[in-house]
Amino acid sequence: MIQVNILLLIINTLFIKMKKILVVCLCCLIAGWKINAQQPVYLNPSKSIEERVEDALSRMTMKEKVDLCHAQSKFSSKGVARLGIPEIWMADGPFGVKFEFSWDDWTPAYWTNDSCTALPSLIGLAASFDPDLSYKYGKVLGEEARYRKKDVILGPGVNIYRTPLCGRNFEYMGEDPLLASRMAVPYIKGLQENGVAACVKHFALNNQETRRSSVNIILSDRALHEIYLPAFKAAVQEGGAWTIMGSYNKYKGQYCCHNDYLLNQILKKSWGFDGVVVSDWSGVHDTMEAANNGLDIEMGTHTDGLFESVKNAYDQYYLGDRFYQALQRGEISEKVLNDKARRILRLIFRTSMNQNKPWGSFGTPEHIIAAREIAEQGIVLLKNEKNILPLRITGKKIAVIGENATRTMIEGGGSSGLKSKYELSPLKGIQNKYGKDNTIIHTMGYASGPAAKRSVLPSPYNADSLLNEALNVAKQADVVLFFGGLNKSFLQDREAGDRQEYELPFGQEKIIAELQKVNKNIIVILVSGNAVAMPWAEKIPAIVQAWYEGIEGGNAIANVLSGDVNPSGKLPISFPVKLTDIGAHAFDKTVFPYDSVNKKTFNVYYKEDIFVGYRWLENKKIKPQYPFGFGLSYTTFEINNINANKKTGTTDDVINVSFDIKNTGKVKGAEVLQVYVGQDKPSVPKALKELKAFRKVPLEAGVSTSVTIPVPTKSFAFYDEQTQNWKVEKGKYFLYVGTSSADILQKIEININ
Ligand code: BGC
Repeated sequence: MIQVNILLLIINTLFIKMKKILVVCLCCLIAGWKINAQQPVYLNPSKSIEERVEDALSRMTMKEKVDLCHAQSKFSSKGVARLGIPEIWMADGPFGVKFEFSWDDWTPAYWTNDSCTALPSLIGLAASFDPDLSYKYGKVLGEEARYRKKDVILGPGVNIYRTPLCGRNFEYMGEDPLLASRMAVPYIKGLQENGVAACVKHFALNNQETRRSSVNIILSDRALHEIYLPAFKAAVQEGGAWTIMGSYNKYKGQYCCHNDYLLNQILKKSWGFDGVVVSDWSGVHDTMEAANNGLDIEMGTHTDGLFESVKNAYDQYYLGDRFYQALQRGEISEKVLNDKARRILRLIFRTSMNQNKPWGSFGTPEHIIAAREIAEQGIVLLKNEKNILPLRITGKKIAVIGENATRTMIEGGGSSGLKSKYELSPLKGIQNKYGKDNTIIHTMGYASGPAAKRSVLPSPYNADSLLNEALNVAKQADVVLFFGGLNKSFLQDREAGDRQEYELPFGQEKIIAELQKVNKNIIVILVSGNAVAMPWAEKIPAIVQAWYEGIEGGNAIANVLSGDVNPSGKLPISFPVKLTDIGAHAFDKTVFPYDSVNKKTFNVYYKEDIFVGYRWLENKKIKPQYPFGFGLSYTTFEINNINANKKTGTTDDVINVSFDIKNTGKVKGAEVLQVYVGQDKPSVPKALKELKAFRKVPLEAGVSTSVTIPVPTKSFAFYDEQTQNWKVEKGKYFLYVGTSSADILQKIEININ
């Protein structure tokens, strides 16, 4: 009885408490509703972005709208302070969140808390052929950007690799439009899920750095639509990119940052882009064109305080006072201004005013591990004679030779250079991996500075003495690891200039040739963002292609060399034997670098047309040094029962290509299956085959699996210049299924009716 009473008492007390809680909840709801009711629509997160945009717009003056359209500092543009609408903060991009700059110029602000997690360069990401990894890349970047209060990351770069000389190839995703598209989309999604906009760059045809601000690109509509635009289109339509950056160069005689055809007709009208077009820094040249031809935010124009010390320098931008006055005079329609303001407000609601965005995180162990994994997955094993790799040794002498073993790479390269929490060099990686059980001797071998040119001066640092020292070290060693390649100095892999030669610079060819004479156990590890000539390859038993690998690069490379990670990267570019084997160099100077019409106009004719990279090599039957899509592994795979579920289809079918794959070796690994498509007797010139789908398949040793890759027949289309539209011709096609563009395992005939 006492127990029942106690129970009743508890229930009663609970009931009274519940009542109180209910009353409090109700009050909160009413208060919340009241606050909401009083809140202007644009501040109300329960309203749709479009409603908020319209409401904010209706409250703004013409001057406030104009102010949205240009920079207010080197990396930010204005919001509407009166209405509590915040500024937009941008940062390069594309491999990490850049350090802070001074307000008006390119001098670093020297903060001490802005060292990021530097991720591998995008060409290295592309070499992973792994879209899931690309999503992870974007996510890391987004979390770091969010933490650093950045609203826009200036990346990814998706310009096509047209020539191995282009100084910015390391910032892009290779020579194939499908690969670049498939890798760009998840990057953008991973990034934007953090409330941080991607800024896909550089739209479009920025395929060289030589005279990048004055070249006018002349190419066929087919080449434009089939090769140079697809990655941008996928970024916009599939990735949902919130911003895009115009490029410096001209197309159809008009600067791309205010190019009516590219921005208004293609991007905004045909692709339905609802985001913001940002200019490249100082890429704007004219008020009327910038206003009318689709640019939304002008950045970096040289009237920013330091260059000309005037008051309100940013008002002097092309989209500043001159734009405002032209609007007031009625020379530019207010509709044009409202369209820009709408897009910019939309961007602000998607990013800085997005209440649901995560908080982000910065320089975390998870980010660092992700950076290492991405680096490991993109490293490409090009050659491995007599299984010299993986290198599992104890009690041996290892010679580490070459400037790239110790050279810092994260900082350089131009706008993509970063301040990283640290940079683990290849030498440090080798020391970490082998240092305990082996002796490691390091010497430079060559130097990229002035010493490289001075082969006769009897200085301790001239090219000869460096080489002699390297040969002495190599002679005593059991194995030589040569770390060479390019670096991120001007005229190497760096913005604003192109490489001057296809060969390895700084006398490396000679050093490699000499080293292999004194030690046959030599492994060459190239660190670069570009293909190089390899006349020495035949004599070298093992070659590894690493890229600029970010914060954990050295450990990633050592993990691959040691076999702790089995290499599974594939080349996102072809390595031609010589430069003239590639379309962009098979003609005269009008094709690369330019045809100088007069001192102001420099035309570049893309005469190779759609035949970029492997498309050219295959059609001309030129054997490359290493083909597109190529990369070896420490294990072996058996691929059987390659089949297509349909041998005939219509123009909007999906063909499922299936196969069984088994890891027949002793270690786990991954193989990238690639599906190319070629047409029999096309009505227009076509590449022998083009990549249409791929899948990276990771497998434990001894394990097998069945895989299906869907290939939509729509992707067989070419861009028909007559109708200005995509067209799938009826007739006979071939699917080529293989492990590289040159290693085709099965050719399947498909008929499209
Ligand atoms: C580059 C862009 C970069 C911008 C801001 C320009 O020089 O071309 O890629 O995002 O500078 O640093």
